[in-house]
Amino acid sequence: MSDISTELDALEQSISAEIAAADSEPVLEAVRVSTVGKKGSVSAQLKTLGAMTPEDRQRLGPVINGLKSRVNDALSARRDALRDAAIDARLETEKVDVTLPVRRSPAEAGRIHPISQVMDEISAIFGDLGFAIAEGPDIETDYYNFTALNFPEGHPAREMHDTFFFEPDAAGERKLLRTHTSPVQIKTMETQKPPIRIVVPGKTYRCDSDATHSPMFHQLEGLVIDKTANVANMRWVLEEFCKAFFEVPSLNMRFRPSFFPFTEPSLELDIQCDRSGSEVRFGEGDDWMEILGCGMVHRNVLRFGGLDPDEYQGFAWGMGIDRLAMLKYGMPDLRAFFESDVRWLSHYGFRPLDMPTLFAGLSA
Ligand code: DAH
Repeated sequence: MSDISTELDALEQSISAEIAAADSEPVLEAVRVSTVGKKGSVSAQLKTLGAMTPEDRQRLGPVINGLKSRVNDALSARRDALRDAAIDARLETEKVDVTLPVRRSPAEAGRIHPISQVMDEISAIFGDLGFAIAEGPDIETDYYNFTALNFPEGHPAREMHDTFFFEPDAAGERKLLRTHTSPVQIKTMETQKPPIRIVVPGKTYRCDSDATHSPMFHQLEGLVIDKTANVANMRWVLEEFCKAFFEVPSLNMRFRPSFFPFTEPSLELDIQCDRSGSEVRFGEGDDWMEILGCGMVHRNVLRFGGLDPDEYQGFAWGMGIDRLAMLKYGMPDLRAFFESDVRWLSHYGFRPLDMPTLFAGLSA
C-alpha cells in the first residue's frame, strides 16, 4: 500500500511541476487533459478503485479523490494567474498617456485651396440656377481658341492673348495652351442641342506674370443659348450670381460697352463697391469694380458652332476666378495662390468637410 502512496505522491509532484511550468492557457489545457481528462493519469488512478477490495477502496478512495480535487484547484488557480498576467501585459502595451496633446486627423489638418473653394461656390450658385458644368482640354487648336470664336487670321485681338504655342506637329499644326475658357462654347454647341445653359470652370494660360497676373490662371465661362435669350436675362443671371457670391442682399451693377470678337454687342460689368476702408466691400459705397466681360453671342460664333443664327441666340460671359477669390477673401497677391506655402494655405484655406452650399451659407 505504501507503494501506491509513494506513486501517488510522485504523480502529484510531477503534475504540480507541469502546472507551474505551463506558461500559456493552451499548455495548461494540455496538462488538464493529460491528468484529470478522461484518459488522464489521475483518472486512470480513479479507475483502479473499482477493482480494489472494499477496505483498500475505503482507504484509497479519499486519497485519490483528494489528489484529483487538488489537481483541479491547482489548474484553476494557474488559469486565473495566466489570465491576470495576460490582462496586465495588454494594459501595459495599450497604456494611454492622457496628458499628451491630441494629434489632429488629416481631415482636420488639411485645407481646401481658396481657388477650389471659390470654384465650388460658383458651381453651387450656377447649379442652383439650372446650369450644367462643362469642361474642355487645356491644350487646344488654333481653330477652337481663336478661329471659331470669330478671331480672323491676323486679327490684332489674337496678339493680345499672349499665347503659349507648342512646336508644330508632324502635320504642321501648332497647338496652344488655351488662353480662355471660351473654346468650350464651340465644343458645347457642336455636341448639344439648345437650350444650352453651361458654366465652364477651368485653367487658362497666358505669357504674363506679376502681382495680378500669373501665366496659369482660372476662368469661368458661361453660355446660354435658346431662341429668346437676351441681355435682360443675362443681366438677371449675373446679378443673382454676384449677390449670391458676395453674400450681399442687393448690389448695384453697371454695364460698359466693350469689344470681344465673339460677342456683339460686347459689355463689361462693374459692380458697386466701397474702397474707402482697408478692404473692399461690395454692395455699398460709390466706387465700381470690373468683374467680367460678356455679351450676346456673335452670329458667326453660332455658325461656327453649327447653329442657325436666325433660329438661335444667346449670351455668354467670362470671368477670372482667381480675381473673384482675391476680392471675396481679401488676398492681396495672386502669386501666393501658386506657391504651395502651407503656412499661407493654413491661413487662407478652407476646412475640407465644410462644402459650400446655398442653404448652409456659401463660405460659412
Ligand atoms: N474670353 C474672354 C477673355 O478671356 C472673356 C469673355 C468675355 C468671355 C466675354 C465671354 C464673353 O464669353 O462673352 O478675355
